[in-house]
Amino acid sequence: MARPSVLVTRRWPEAVEAQLAERYDVELNRADRPLNAQEFREAIQRYDAVLPTVTDKLGSEALDVPQAQTKILANYGVGYTHIDMETAKSHGMAVTNTPDVLSECTADLAMTLMLMVARRAGDGERELRAGDWSGWRPTHLVGTKVSGKTLGIIGFGRIGQEMAKRAHFGFGMRIVVFNRSPVKPEVLAKFNAVQVPTLEELLPECDFVSLHCPGGAGNAKMINSARLDLMKPDAYLINTARGEVVDEHALAQALMFETIGGAALDVFEREPHINPTLAQCDNLVMLPHLGSATTEARQAMGFRVLDNLNDFFDGKEPRDCVS
Ligand code: DGY
Repeated sequence: MARPSVLVTRRWPEAVEAQLAERYDVELNRADRPLNAQEFREAIQRYDAVLPTVTDKLGSEALDVPQAQTKILANYGVGYTHIDMETAKSHGMAVTNTPDVLSECTADLAMTLMLMVARRAGDGERELRAGDWSGWRPTHLVGTKVSGKTLGIIGFGRIGQEMAKRAHFGFGMRIVVFNRSPVKPEVLAKFNAVQVPTLEELLPECDFVSLHCPGGAGNAKMINSARLDLMKPDAYLINTARGEVVDEHALAQALMFETIGGAALDVFEREPHINPTLAQCDNLVMLPHLGSATTEARQAMGFRVLDNLNDFFDGKEPRDCVS
């Protein structure tokens, strides 16, 4: 039987690419250049499986093709709001993702951002590299204590819970949760966390607010100017979820006018474009979408795609089917 044909849309860790090639007829993107909608349309007519990732915009203009050959979109990454699920479904394509394997590393990065912004690590680094450090003094780059403070977690899935674990057990933080559906009492009890029914209740209570909800239209601009106004004037917002969850214009205003203490972002509304007003804010720490960027997580994500693909072509339901 012919080997299924598979398109990998970006470069992946070598070990995973090699293993994919053992079972499939694989087309790799050696130049690592993002594909455009037309290239996707051609791919959907040609390959049995397409393995996209977060940088691939798979709206109807890319997926809605006559005589689609693709039977599965096996996404490399946990978030899949870049895929138009309705169109995929209407063409009978299965969609899978890669949960679990990046939760710890993403929570580690959210902690990194929280500590960086609270302790003014970005300011300090910039000062040193510019050769401007004049030495220790009691009033120099004084930040905010993290230990013992209240952390609001928006979205209490796997990554949100990993964040709670680090913050509660590592830093003695009090955890307040907002989540679309009720979180099981035994899960909240693990972190001595309380769930509140609305964002309006959570935001005024917290010293730090960390976003761990999905992106997509349903959560677009969830953190808008009205909600930023509800945050304490010295509170910090952390986003490792999706850029569209935060209204960047409203956030830039809040940072400029210092109506909140600061923010730390790993994700942006129009990646890789950075809102120029945001880039001027010194009370903001920014990283280029590094949540899952460890050797361990990136390999595990690739092998998880491979598992999903193998299940699919073995005629089984892939474990991470989201369609
Ligand atoms: C994901 O998995 O959705 C991330 O954003 C990429 O690590």
